[in-house]
Amino acid sequence: MNAVNSIEVEDLRRVFTRRAPRKPPWRRRRESGGNGTMPASNCNLLNDQPNATVAVDGISFAIRSGEIFGLLGPNGAGKTTTIKMLCTLLEPTSGTARVAGYDILREPARVRGSMGTVFSSERSLYWKLTGRENLEYFAALYHVEPSSTASRIDYLLGKMDLQAKSNELVERYSTGMRQRLAIARALLADPRVVLLDEPTAGLDPQSARNLRDTVRSLSDEGHTILLTTHYMAEADELCDRIAIIDHGRIIALDSPASLKASLEEIHSLEVEVDKAPDGVLDELRSLPLVRGVESHTSDNGLDTWIIRVLTEDTRQTLDTLLDLVRASGDRVLNMRVNEPTLEDVFIALTGKSLRD
Ligand SMILES: Nc1ncnc2c1ncn2[C@@H]1O[C@H](COP(=O)(O)OP(=O)(O)O)[C@@H](O)[C@H]1O
Ligand SMILES: [Mg+2]
Repeated sequence: MNAVNSIEVEDLRRVFTRRAPRKPPWRRRRESGGNGTMPASNCNLLNDQPNATVAVDGISFAIRSGEIFGLLGPNGAGKTTTIKMLCTLLEPTSGTARVAGYDILREPARVRGSMGTVFSSERSLYWKLTGRENLEYFAALYHVEPSSTASRIDYLLGKMDLQAKSNELVERYSTGMRQRLAIARALLADPRVVLLDEPTAGLDPQSARNLRDTVRSLSDEGHTILLTTHYMAEADELCDRIAIIDHGRIIALDSPASLKASLEEIHSLEVEVDKAPDGVLDELRSLPLVRGVESHTSDNGLDTWIIRVLTEDTRQTLDTLLDLVRASGDRVLNMRVNEPTLEDVFIALTGKSLRD
């Protein structure tokens, strides 16, 4: 592990499988003629490939100590799954990661000891306890030194602007206050790394702004921060570097400034073809001016495919693109050249809008 990195992620992958629901026993019995043996058709059902969702599809990145690093992507991109693997709530299907130098597979307890995690729908607070009581409970759970617990809690309540409401029940807190209390809870053991999953989701604009200030102050105090968001502006404003994630893959990773600078030069070429273009995609990706290649079935119901190529030079790439597609035996049905804005390019990169 590189000493300047607080998080290192190597080819992390997570696949969820959903098996066909088991039929209730009376139906199984009835369908098998009542003798309890399973008919051949049911055996086949059990042998069928379960539905698989590739939530995180081989991502790698490193977060430097003290950095605010953002995972930016639309709903379903794999952000929460990534956070859950890093905080050892979920085992990766393959790949690994290190947090503060500890391997998430081999040293999960040490990983948990060096990080604090806050999930967006914060259900880990006790609503029938006061804010202070919540922190006292979790301080004991996290083995915070008893002699320093009271002063640590006072410090965090002050820092999170909850001092005045510290003796009120959490059920009377606003969403913003609960989110701040959840962050205070995550900071109890003074972790080196803080993971925040969609920290401003569901907050009003003013509370969201305050929360971003809080995140910045955590960074100023030396915490390394990994946050997820589907708000472009938030990632832009807050993060030192951003990884744009979609369909479980990182499709861009850089500082907001470099990301914007590079995106501004990119144009998007769309070609509609009559067959799945798998054969040409890798060749397209290896072209010098091509910055991204993506393909999907078209949504016109005609069973055609769209190849989308992000390129720095439309003219040069278009020629090669058409040659490659024709050489692979696909027919070009339609073509479009887009000159996108930053937001458009973002949508082109992720394949969908980030807005709610
Ligand atoms: N426990 C689960 N079982 C099956 N599929 C899941 C599970 N958790 C997440 N997924 C799927 O994995 C993908 C990524 O989900 P998630 O990591 O929650 O995305 P994000 O946080 O970026 O919105 C989605 O397609 C989601 O439906
Ligand atoms: Mg999520």
